[in-house]
Amino acid sequence: MSAPIPASASASGRRQILVTSALPYANGQIHIGHMVEYIQTNIWVRTLRMHGHEVYYVGADDTHGTPIMLRAEKEGITPKQLIERVWKEHKRDFDSFGVSFDNYYSTDAEENRVLCNTIYGALQQAGLIDARDIEQAYDPVKKMFLPDRFIKGQCPKCGAKDQYGDNCEVCGSTYQPTELINPYSVVSGATPVRKTSTHYFFKLSDPRCETFLRGWVSGLAQPEATNKMREWLGDQGEAKLADWDISRDSPYFGFEIPGAPGKYFYVWVDAPVGYYASFKNLVDRIGLTFDDWVKPGSKAEQYHFIGKDILYFHTLFWPAMLEFSGHRTPTNVFAHGFLTVDGAKMSKSRGTFITAQSVIDTGLNPEWLRYYFAAKLNSTMEDIDLNLEDFQVRVNSDLVGKYVNIASRAASFLIKRFDGRVQDSAMHHTLLQTMRAAIPQIAGFYESREYGRALRTTMELADAVNGYVDTAKPWEQVKDPANAVALHETCSVSLEAFRLLSLALKPVLPKLVESVEAFLGIAPLVWADADKPLSSANPVNAYKHLTTRVDPKQIEALLAANRESLQPGAETAAPKADAKKDAKKGKAGATREEAGIVSIDDFAKIDLRIAKIVDCKTVEGSDKLLQLTLDIGKEKTRNVFSGIRSAYQPQDLIGKLTVMVANLAPRKMKFGLSEGMVLAASATDERAEPGLYILEPHSGAKPGMRVK
Ligand code: MSP
Ligand code: ZN
Repeated sequence: MSAPIPASASASGRRQILVTSALPYANGQIHIGHMVEYIQTNIWVRTLRMHGHEVYYVGADDTHGTPIMLRAEKEGITPKQLIERVWKEHKRDFDSFGVSFDNYYSTDAEENRVLCNTIYGALQQAGLIDARDIEQAYDPVKKMFLPDRFIKGQCPKCGAKDQYGDNCEVCGSTYQPTELINPYSVVSGATPVRKTSTHYFFKLSDPRCETFLRGWVSGLAQPEATNKMREWLGDQGEAKLADWDISRDSPYFGFEIPGAPGKYFYVWVDAPVGYYASFKNLVDRIGLTFDDWVKPGSKAEQYHFIGKDILYFHTLFWPAMLEFSGHRTPTNVFAHGFLTVDGAKMSKSRGTFITAQSVIDTGLNPEWLRYYFAAKLNSTMEDIDLNLEDFQVRVNSDLVGKYVNIASRAASFLIKRFDGRVQDSAMHHTLLQTMRAAIPQIAGFYESREYGRALRTTMELADAVNGYVDTAKPWEQVKDPANAVALHETCSVSLEAFRLLSLALKPVLPKLVESVEAFLGIAPLVWADADKPLSSANPVNAYKHLTTRVDPKQIEALLAANRESLQPGAETAAPKADAKKDAKKGKAGATREEAGIVSIDDFAKIDLRIAKIVDCKTVEGSDKLLQLTLDIGKEKTRNVFSGIRSAYQPQDLIGKLTVMVANLAPRKMKFGLSEGMVLAASATDERAEPGLYILEPHSGAKPGMRVK
């Protein structure tokens, strides 16, 4: 069931193939949901590389857009600093999961800017760009236009508070952001206003686009994708495609549009172009000709692996952008479903929002996850579930029980009794012939993205091998020297069978199979090696343990580690992982909580305000306290008891400005309710150096101003 080889393949059969996975956003960590896609793509890439094709697998971080800009601001760093840090983390995660990109790049790169400008220029030339004024929600305080998900308010149907602009999580109804009651900007809290601005549109409604896309969809590999596309395209003449708004106003982290100062390409424009930018960066380094791959008539194939949530961008916008800017279009787009854990959406409170880093930290072998995902994956867009119980059972029974055990049983006899050399005549055993015949079929399953079938077939073969060993009983054979030849055959067949199983598993378990290759003393396995059996001329090396079982304790630790990330202060993704790792290793670096470090988010929780001391009195029955009446720019003044009597007379303070914590939980005291706290300095050792000094702002500060 090997997939058909496209007509574009050269006479030698060596295909040129460019493969991508969706570019992860640069504002968060890689989690195991993402990993489904990168593992899926990587298995496919490895499969094709093992055929000897010229395959390039490129990726990049998707770095632009409003959320990344705001995230950086919240952390008190520049967007460039943020994306640089996250890039390193993402790269580390991909490396540890064996996701072998030929180039892992960034959309915030010069190649990408140039390509975006070229494509945009060509679309303009083709008459497919339009400028139009539109009205949008605008944050008058932050002075920025607000994407829908940055607006919250009360649900117009049920009145629930803090709901997003498009749907209510409480009653489930959907509506327009303009319908929200008391809407507010998530960025500043201000009430959004409507404001007009010029936007640039890609005229997808142009009949040329529709005609092109109707033709293009018919070539899609997945019937579900074609159906979705037909839905979006509507019936012939229905003109269902709307123009696509491709510009955003300043402030925006992205590329400025040529000839349109203050206007930026919407992140979804430069993100897919980022595939090409990453590839361009690669070809320039290795000396290929970019145009041979990306211009119409190219003999190369181009595939994009994506999640089903971003199909629209990859099957409408991206092919149309390429087609009308003088580029070749994708050969195909392969969409996969979403990952659930134990049947439910990944959840931070349950600890199932599992980061890639946490898998490594808990000592779980990332190849186990590769194996499990592969066993569940097929060529459709169905969701896949990680059942943690099933995960342990399957890894332990398949990988350890069925596969690795074959080697450990055979190797010791072969090394001890036969100098590590196989019996050449045993290489023709019928079991081995059957297995060799199955290898092209397994490779074909991988190529058609039916990984579950590839692994089921492989495990059936493993069962057959174990059956063979159980019948031959080498542990009995070894007892009688007269059985030496038979024992030699058993071990040789087992070990060659193990080699063939390793070949079948190689796209999924590259690292494990690398140690198998070292143990067998053979060159890196490729599909054509099915017919190149082990040889007595080439003895195997000492056997080292190849893998261990999953320990249920590791799963518990994994869930605990990810539940942890809900604790306050741990939410700012990036430095956390490293800090946690260091703490685990017992190194000097403690967790940030332990080190007393707070995140900018933690700090932002404290509402510090300029307060005017409008009245100040001594407190009957207390020689420590003064009672302050504070004006913080609101109608109602605050009553605060403060332990500063030793340092101040009431009349010294009346009329002065100071700083107060305005959102401290009110505290009931013997003398009344204290509604906050004023800030005062004192020495760390007050006995050695007495004295209390309340803070006073520079002149110009007004009651109610926020201190940050
Ligand atoms: N930045 C965009 C893609 C731009 S491509 C030009 C994006 N980024 S993402 O980080 O949100 O997702 C990256 C990929 O991971 C997407 O294909 C997405 O579908 C996939 N997944 C994210 N969460 C997932 C699961 N829970 N399960 C499976 N795949 C998931 O979208
Ligand atoms: Zn509601």
